[in-house]
Amino acid sequence: MNPFVPQKAPYKVNVQAGESYYWCSCGQSKSQPFCDGSHKGSEFVPMKFDATETKEVYFCGCKNSLNKPFCDGAHNKLP
Ligand code: FES
Repeated sequence: MNPFVPQKAPYKVNVQAGESYYWCSCGQSKSQPFCDGSHKGSEFVPMKFDATETKEVYFCGCKNSLNKPFCDGAHNKLP
């Protein structure tokens, strides 16, 4: 099953060193790009990301990246 596509663009987030983040892989979360539990009952599970430094990252918003949880430009190739 393909994930839902919340947006065909990445989400820019300032992550904090030492914090963990749960990236939504199913696309159904209402708190994109993070998991809100909406995947329950589906084949999808969130992907944990442990920030080792405080910086700006671009989380995948189309859920089709091959470099999850980050944007790899895959949204540009979606129909
Ligand atoms: S809500 Fe999408 S993976 Fe949890």
